[in-house]
Amino acid sequence: MRINENTLLEGKDVILVPYNEDHVPRYHKWMGSPELQKLTASEPLSLEQEYDMQRSWREDDDKCTFIILDKKLWANPDVQEQECMVGDVNIFLTDPSDPSLAELEIMIAEPNYRGKGLGKEVIRMMICYGVTKLGVRKYEAKIGLDNKVSIAIFKKFKFQEVSVSEVFQEVTLELTVDHALQTWLLGDMSFMQEREYQKSRDSRHGASSHLTQ
Ligand SMILES: CC(C)(COP(=O)(O)OP(=O)(O)OC[C@H]1O[C@@H](n2cnc3c(N)ncnc32)[C@H](O)[C@@H]1OP(=O)(O)O)[C@@H](O)C(=O)NCCC(=O)NCCS
Repeated sequence: MRINENTLLEGKDVILVPYNEDHVPRYHKWMGSPELQKLTASEPLSLEQEYDMQRSWREDDDKCTFIILDKKLWANPDVQEQECMVGDVNIFLTDPSDPSLAELEIMIAEPNYRGKGLGKEVIRMMICYGVTKLGVRKYEAKIGLDNKVSIAIFKKFKFQEVSVSEVFQEVTLELTVDHALQTWLLGDMSFMQEREYQKSRDSRHGASSHLTQ
């Protein structure tokens, strides 16, 4: 999706940036892991296929992808952006005739970064971005039945179980963004700042960073 191609979202501990070709080698390395393939129900791709996928995600109107970066590391201009990558988060618009319906996916790919609250922060930021920028009103999450951590995190955001597929061994959870939920979830998003990605990236290597410490 081109809408976020120059968008940087700054949270407390993470920075979300659009998925671009510089990120592909690290992403490809992650997806070579059998554990992540299983947890995310993904097939392994060649490096070439991964570059094709990145291009199609950028161009397709139904997919909005951000790479999750470690904010502290990214604040250090000596560290390559690729070294700051910890995962990704996606919104898929699932129904071409209804852009208010979306699927939400998240992956904290780096094991050392799991269980530290990053998943919760990123899900909140992405729900907020989808509601305010893309007009999403209903989210869906499809999760492997044995992925207890992921099921627990989505339930924390009041996603409710709507179906279980024995064939695919996955549960579908749904969240309708009504007024009450919007107040609860989006009420205090003051910690999230939106910036221009290219400018921030360029100024990272300049004298001063735009990021709040
Ligand atoms: C699932 C995932 C996104 C969670 O993100 P995270 O940053 O590790 O989770 P957080 O630290 O934000 O924790 C959020 C909640 O998850 C649950 N949780 C986290 N780690 C847990 C663990 N080891 N065991 C049980 N529950 C756990 C808790 O409910 C926690 O909330 P709490 O801290 O208020 O109790 C992340 O672990 C991940 O990406 N794993 C690998 C790929 C994957 O499974 N992706 C999802 C595919 S659908």
